[in-house]
Amino acid sequence: MVTRTDRTKVDYAATREEALARIAAAQDLDALEKLRVEFLGKQGSVSLLLKTLGAMSPEERRSTGPQIHALREGVSDALTARKTALEGAALEARLANESVDLTLPAPEAPRGSIHPVSQVLDELAEIFADLGFAVATGPEIEDDWHNFTALNIPESHPARAMHDTFYFPDSDTEGRRMLLRTHTSPVQIRSMLEQGAPIRIIAPGRVYRSDSDATHTPMFHQVEGLVIDKGIHLGHLKWTLETFLKAFFERDDIVLRLRPSYFPFTEPSVEVDVGFAQVNGADGKSRRVLGGCGDAPGHGWMELLGSGMVNRKVIEAGGLDPDEWQGFAFGIGVDRLAMLKYGMDDLRAFFDGDVRWLAHYGFSAFDVPTLSAGVGAGA
Ligand code: PHE
Repeated sequence: MVTRTDRTKVDYAATREEALARIAAAQDLDALEKLRVEFLGKQGSVSLLLKTLGAMSPEERRSTGPQIHALREGVSDALTARKTALEGAALEARLANESVDLTLPAPEAPRGSIHPVSQVLDELAEIFADLGFAVATGPEIEDDWHNFTALNIPESHPARAMHDTFYFPDSDTEGRRMLLRTHTSPVQIRSMLEQGAPIRIIAPGRVYRSDSDATHTPMFHQVEGLVIDKGIHLGHLKWTLETFLKAFFERDDIVLRLRPSYFPFTEPSVEVDVGFAQVNGADGKSRRVLGGCGDAPGHGWMELLGSGMVNRKVIEAGGLDPDEWQGFAFGIGVDRLAMLKYGMDDLRAFFDGDVRWLAHYGFSAFDVPTLSAGVGAGA
């Protein structure tokens, strides 16, 4: 260590030479950092020499000062130069050792998935397009004339009750009460009024009811079907539904049972049941699989949809002459179709927006339903 008393004996040039030689010999950045602290750190030897300047007489400082400053500068420059050289060498070494395999596949970017309801809606549109049906739409915020009155649903009908239907506080300009449509059937009226006859449409979309448990959500999806033409009868309805269900479930053994029923907007009305088999899955759970006659052993009938011949009053409300035009209509729950085809068991999960559920049950955007690929082939 250099002290005040021996400063005159310091050979600055020799100190500099020795420091520069040690810096040049540093083999890595760690060793170099140690040298920096040794020379230029707070207690470093060169730093201490600089401090001795304060105690010198002006003459002494004039002669010694430049030497000490030159020493400090020389050491500092040498440290910087050696650091640059060592870093450059480290990079060279890495580049020389590292290899990039350009034949490896690129990492896959995260992709979203198509919700099963969207997938099923596309499948329905595809199958019905093949049967000559266009897709029609109507508003989700409806008025009570289109949703109820024009469909021959009387004032006293329970579906109109406050506890079943979501009403808005306002009425429209014609004094009609506004509500969230409870079914897709108002699109029947809108189609007749807008396009006249003949008609072949399906109307998929969201509907709302004040209902919530494991099998009911306040919002769900339906698809309406409507055919208006001359000489239409129940046979056309049955053939259309059977053809559609066989294509949708990709099975030839779909058996329908038509049961007399009642809807205000159809006359006669039929509830359509489909035969299913009770099948034990690999997970040990028993599942209903559509197919076969419901009366066969191990089989049963499942209620699938409502339908019927369009009521004369509804055809009139649609601005058409019921003596000239007849038709059939049906309404199916889309979410239920998806559950039956793709095997989910809780309807509420459809609308939770859980990405894990979507990753499991969703579809790739490339699985576009087409008849040539077999509808829903990407499942
Ligand atoms: N709109 C009826 C419902 O929501 C279904 C239906 C549609 C029935 C068309 C017959 C004809 O339950």
